[in-house]
Amino acid sequence: METTTSTIDPFAPAQLGPVTLRNRVIKAATFEGVMPDALVTPELIEYHRKVAAGGVGMTTVAYLAVSPEGRTHAECLWMREEAIPGLTKLADAIHAEGAAISGQIGHGGLVANAKSNQAQSIGPTSQFNPISMRKTKAATEADLTRIIHDFANAAKIVQRSGFDALEIHLGHNYLPSSFLSPRLNKREDRWGGSLENRAKLARKACEAVRQAVGGDMAVIAKLNMKDAMPGGLDIEESLQVAQMLEEDANLDAIELTGGSSFGNPMYLFRGDAPLKEFAATLPPLARVGFKLMGKKMMPSYPFEEAFFRKHARRYLETLNTPVILLGGINELSTIRSALDEGFAFVAMGRALLRTPDLINRMQSGTQEGGICIHCNKCMPTIYSGTRCVIDNPQPIMGSAPVA
Ligand SMILES: Cc1cc2nc3c(=O)[nH]c(=O)nc-3n(C[C@H](O)[C@H](O)[C@H](O)COP(=O)(O)O)c2cc1C
Ligand code: SF4
Repeated sequence: METTTSTIDPFAPAQLGPVTLRNRVIKAATFEGVMPDALVTPELIEYHRKVAAGGVGMTTVAYLAVSPEGRTHAECLWMREEAIPGLTKLADAIHAEGAAISGQIGHGGLVANAKSNQAQSIGPTSQFNPISMRKTKAATEADLTRIIHDFANAAKIVQRSGFDALEIHLGHNYLPSSFLSPRLNKREDRWGGSLENRAKLARKACEAVRQAVGGDMAVIAKLNMKDAMPGGLDIEESLQVAQMLEEDANLDAIELTGGSSFGNPMYLFRGDAPLKEFAATLPPLARVGFKLMGKKMMPSYPFEEAFFRKHARRYLETLNTPVILLGGINELSTIRSALDEGFAFVAMGRALLRTPDLINRMQSGTQEGGICIHCNKCMPTIYSGTRCVIDNPQPIMGSAPVA
């Protein structure tokens, strides 16, 4: 039995901006990979219904691209009128289980697979993209104006679909995060150079989203603390970005992450690098390259419970904005101590992929912790139906979109 004494009840309702969540546990974004037509399918609904029925306060649908070229690949939902009926059914199913629903909106930037999307990928600076084996274009002023507008439009679509919250992706070197990075952003115009300039896209995206949805939805940003790439965003600059976001007053909470889907993906997961499984998802030429370079491209980091906590504490000390702790949370004792320390919520990814009803089990006292072994073999399943392969080895095929 758990021995930690705590003052904040993780299972009691809590306020996230204008929204009351039934408890303080949020299912973190884990791209679901069951949307062959880039629209909501019955499998996507079931994926989230299970964690909602399993007790979380809120589930996060990920990842909802704001523009077609901002999809990570072609089977990624992007926000357009056509998506609303399916998203509405998804929101209704989650609400019927007593949970709230958040949509993670973002733009993949140089993480987007241009070949799969059949659309030129965009970054702060033109560079070779090993994911699609193509060159990324440097965003023009017109691109950035349109993308900021796309953030607002996507937010409205998510709101009209009945979601409770929005999470703006400012991490993992997706577009706004790549603009923050001094390594990836070598621009000499008003979007590059000083931190103020590099933070402009992230700030404008948050502002556009808040203006679009008003005060009735909770708005969260998922922000990198460090890219963990040489010359990338580091924690001192990230803390300043967090302060700028706080001054702008468009957010109800900040969720902290790190690493780079482009250059250092294992930093955001820790544990084993699934090199063999990842290689199997690549086209033949890229596979050969990955087999030679994979270990260097995906260095692994030992897993530790709540591995981002030490860095996240600095934000807690600096900000008045509520902070969401994410990264390697498995144990009820960790949840309790994080809340007691001042984190407003915790977000959990893999522990809930492995055990979707973990929160009910924790609440009823039948299980004190998750059983995810951090093998990370679920990572490449984003291309074959995201799942814990230990319990579900077979692919999950997304079927026709819900009408
Ligand atoms: C299969 C899988 C897919 C993921 N997809 C996303 C995503 O679409 N957007 C995102 O911000 N993070 C994504 N993540 C990262 C998680 O949100 C989270 O940051 C990470 O797994 C660490 O939390 P955890 O230790 O609780 O799993 C994904 C993680 C996994 C395992
Ligand atoms: S495959 Fe399962 S056990 Fe392995 S990291 Fe993913 S959720 Fe955890």
